[in-house]
Amino acid sequence: MKPTQTVAVIGSSWGDEGKGKLVDFLSKTADIVVRFQGGNNAGHTVVINNKKHSFHLLPSGVLQNKTVVISNGVVIDPEVLFTELDHIQSEGYKPELIVSSTAHIIFPFHNYIDELEEKHKDYHAAGTTKRGIGPSYSDKAARYGIRVFDLVHPEFFKAKWDNLIDIKKKMIIALGGNWCYNAEEIFNQYVEFGRKLKPYMRDTAYFLNESLDDGKLILFEGAQGALLGLDHGMYPFGTSSTTWAGGIPAGAGISPKRIDKIIGIIKAYTSRVGGGPLPTELKDETGNYIREHGHEYGTTTGRPRRVGWIDLVNLKYTCMLNRYDALAISLLDVLGGLLKIKLCVKYIRNGQELDKWPIHSEIINECTPKYIEMPGWKNLHEEEWSEIAVQGFISLPEEMRNYIKFIEDYLGVPIAFISIGPNRKDSIVRYPIW
Ligand code: GDP
Ligand code: IMO
Ligand code: MG
Repeated sequence: MKPTQTVAVIGSSWGDEGKGKLVDFLSKTADIVVRFQGGNNAGHTVVINNKKHSFHLLPSGVLQNKTVVISNGVVIDPEVLFTELDHIQSEGYKPELIVSSTAHIIFPFHNYIDELEEKHKDYHAAGTTKRGIGPSYSDKAARYGIRVFDLVHPEFFKAKWDNLIDIKKKMIIALGGNWCYNAEEIFNQYVEFGRKLKPYMRDTAYFLNESLDDGKLILFEGAQGALLGLDHGMYPFGTSSTTWAGGIPAGAGISPKRIDKIIGIIKAYTSRVGGGPLPTELKDETGNYIREHGHEYGTTTGRPRRVGWIDLVNLKYTCMLNRYDALAISLLDVLGGLLKIKLCVKYIRNGQELDKWPIHSEIINECTPKYIEMPGWKNLHEEEWSEIAVQGFISLPEEMRNYIKFIEDYLGVPIAFISIGPNRKDSIVRYPIW
């Protein structure tokens, strides 16, 4: 059998599934770690010996000192990139960073347009992170966006800049905002970013394909989650990139044939930041317990996350899309202390049972979950979970093992990685991934 050369980590639901922790773990074996979509709307957390690291743009593999790549499918806010890079270097990490020449740039007015558009959309607002992600991708699709290559070549940048500014000015005013930018100042500031980006800039499709030809191991780090994706997520309550594994070929310039393993990460329950229907949402004491116990507050915006029971109907859908080789499950420790745990196995709409995720938010709004109940497990201290992690799967509470087995059977995908605490070491590997 061909050895595994590439592994992808994909969030299976609404983001914040624990991708940062899993990517950090898998990066140990990889040579190269790639972010291929999204931007600094992401907030990926890695905890090592109780020290928390949050990444918005840099791939989480930086903590393993790997080569990290920001490929063409990402939208880059250079200010965020250099702040993050300076910070990680000040902590003694020395990652080799490579940035795609064709990745698009986020400018300050993109953040403002994001805000104005959200206001304008009213009920249909996704509750964005206001990081300018959607507006930057819009410019890319409209073909007047600015790319890393342009910043590095001010003469090409200038030729596109005046047109972009003209359009953005009109747009901001049409959306009820005020044009409060000095275009020349921004231009000069971004030329300076271009100067700083130059040593990192590469044609990353060539770099990644040639690295694979040389036998290197590559890990793809998904951002957001499959249900937030542009085509197959809950439109319009999601983000503006392709968040399922289908985003890798386009976002990194890799043939789909070169993706060897796709790992989906699921949470032991559901969480969501932003608008749109959430069928299993808990607005009661149990919801508060899970939110506080799991510290469910956004890594990027600090917003309290909406939480609910695990939704196997939508997870089955994202398992179908991604055709995962294996799953990782995180935050199981957070449910400790609940007497009963519910799992949504079907939806009910107009008295009829549905097995399939209904795709459209309007229909999902009319669905109520049908649950089965399983006995919960005890609440333990973080150190106790860490000790259990060392002993392996068989040492997990029996109720937790049954919960894991039920999910595995329902979804028809083996659960290879189990996370029972935020720290790097609070992990159980049931089946090797690389
Ligand atoms: P990501 O965006 O998918 O990388 O996830 P986030 O970092 O936004 O959110 C996951 C949060 O859960 C972070 O604060 C992690 O440190 C934490 N976390 C990850 N796995 C576990 C786990 O198994 N148990 C607990 N208690 N926390 C975890
Ligand atoms: P990670 O990678 C959770 C959500 C926002 C909003 C919608 C659109 O940490 O899992 P955007 O700013 O992208 O235009 O917002 O998507 N969202 C996330 N939710 N985790 C994320 O990233 C998210 N990135 C965007 O809350 O509903
Ligand atoms: Mg996150």
